[in-house]
Amino acid sequence: MTEPTSADLALLAFAREAKDKAYAPYSDFRVGAAVFAGGDIYQGCNVENAAYGSTICAERSAALHAVMHGQRWFDAIAIVGDSDAPTVPCGACRQFLAEFNPDLRVVMGGATDAVMVMTLGELLPEAFVRGYLDQDHSSDE
Ligand code: THU
Repeated sequence: MTEPTSADLALLAFAREAKDKAYAPYSDFRVGAAVFAGGDIYQGCNVENAAYGSTICAERSAALHAVMHGQRWFDAIAIVGDSDAPTVPCGACRQFLAEFNPDLRVVMGGATDAVMVMTLGELLPEAFVRGYLDQDHSSDE
């Protein structure tokens, strides 16, 4: 864990702003995220669904936004949820984000001033990444 920089706090403000857009009528737990990639910022929020499992988290929403704009490498993501303690990304989002930088900087905030900064490598050691798929399987039975 490291101390937040002024850039981290600026990205966190974008995530906090995105949280206001959250659609969370079932859990009432709102989450906002902001990806920093290619010098730009891409916001996302959680969007819930009556079929609960179809819900999308704020982190994946922001990641999709960035990819839709042509980004393939993320420098940092900020996440803000309604919890008192900084909101951490769920397991599925950790894996999803690892695709775009396994050592992504992750800035986490909540309803208080507490901020936590970690790398994705710390949050998800040994992520399954594309290198595993690049191996030659032609001789496999
Ligand atoms: N949620 C996120 O958006 N990101 C996380 O990392 C944790 C969970 C959302 C999903 C759901 O809409 C609500 O928070 C409660 O789980």
